[in-house]
Formats: sequence, structure tokens, C-alpha cells
Amino acid sequence: MSSERRPLIAGNWKMNGLTADGLALARAVAGECGGARGPARPEVLLCPPATLIARVAEAVAGSGLAVGGQDCHAEPKGAHTGDVSAEMLADLGCRYVIVGHSERRRDHGESDAAVRAKAEAAVRAGLVPIVCIGETEAEYLAGHTADVLRRQIRDSVPAAATPATLVVAYEPVWAIGTGRTPGLDEIAAMHALIRETLSARGIAADGVRLLYGGSMKPANAADILAIADVDGGLVGGASLSAEDFCAIVRRCP
Ligand code: PGA
Repeated sequence: MSSERRPLIAGNWKMNGLTADGLALARAVAGECGGARGPARPEVLLCPPATLIARVAEAVAGSGLAVGGQDCHAEPKGAHTGDVSAEMLADLGCRYVIVGHSERRRDHGESDAAVRAKAEAAVRAGLVPIVCIGETEAEYLAGHTADVLRRQIRDSVPAAATPATLVVAYEPVWAIGTGRTPGLDEIAAMHALIRETLSARGIAADGVRLLYGGSMKPANAADILAIADVDGGLVGGASLSAEDFCAIVRRCP
């Protein structure tokens, strides 16, 4: 982790949380790790399901926690039943939106081009997109990880991205929700490759925050977050416990 890039720990609640437990979780996180802890403190972000964004934003107002969406449509408004636009998320107080999570790529057939359009829409609405990339287990075992990441960066990341308008999350699909993670050397190598690939596209990659995601938990967070090119984490399962999530926040160097 570099001192110039402010670490970001993002909780992706996925499709979890009814009003009472979602608000209780948000309040517990705000109480445990929302307060200012000096200039180097990590930025802490909660991405609840769309149904809870407004309530969570109200509940954590003034705590220093940021709120984000888990997806957005590429258009600002229109005839798209069931979808939510980036403008709507911004209107609720969101600062970030996750785009191209592997569960959306899998469940909704989102292509790299669709992910890029969503990322561009997020920036137009004043949000910072967290663009997710990562290889499947078959691609990993076949030794294709680097090629997959290069292609996803080329096709999913907006060409005009800057450190202020882009966060990239590297999430090996086979590590999500499985309790398995790549070796620390592999995480380091892939994050370095992502930074190089962004740079080769003309993006000011030194300032872009790169998150690791996939079975991050208190027990492995310190080692992962200590890697030079890892600037934070995208946390799924462990973000549903305020204790575990805040323990990860505290593991930031
Ligand atoms: P996990 O999910 O922490 O439960 O593996 C991470 C993610 O999918 O963002």
C-alpha cells in the first residue's frame, strides 16, 4: 500500500439485509470504525442493496462512512424496468458504485462493453466506479489469468479514467465466497500487472486505487493489505459482520 493512495475498504452486502438488520449493521460499523482516525485512515464504504441505500445513507450521515451502489444502468433515465441509474444513486448520497461484479457478469450476462458503459455513466453522474475484474477458476488453472485481466481492463475500463474517476477491484471469481485466496505472491503479481496495464493505456495508474476482493477476512487482511500495489479491499461475506468488517479496516497499514 502506498502512502499517496488513500486506502479504501468497501463492504459489498450483495442481496442481504432487510431494514432492521441492515440499519443495525450500518450503525454498528459507523460506531466502530466510522470516526476520523487521522489523515492516513482508510476510507470506509458501505454498498447495501438498492432498497436500503437511502436509509443507510441517513443512518451513517456525519460518521465519515461513504455509501455506494452495487450496480447502475448505463442510461441516466428511461424505459428500463427494474433498473437504477447512476444519477439516482448520486441523488441518494452515494459516492461510489460497483460495476461489473462477477456475479452480475454471470447472472445478467454483462459484457465488458456493458461494464464500461456503466462505468462511464457513473462518472457522468459524479460517482466513482469500482470496476471489478477477475478470472474464473478454469482460466486460473489454465494459466490465463494475466490475459483475462488485460482484456477486461482494455474493454471494461473507460479510456479517459483518472485516479479521481476510477477504482479497480481484482476479484478472482474462484476466491469469492469460497474461503480460498490466491497466494500473496500471486495477488502481488496481478495487482502489479493491473497497474502496468492501466499505465500502458495512458491512465495515470500510480494514483489509481486497486482493491483486492475474494474471501478477505480479519485473519488474512493484514498480509494482503501490506502488498505494495493493494490499496484496499472489496469485502463480501465479512462485511455482514460489523466486528469482522471493522477488524479488516483496522488491518490497513
Ligand atoms: P467475499 O465476496 O468477500 O464474500 O468473497 C467479495 C465480493 O464478491 O465482492
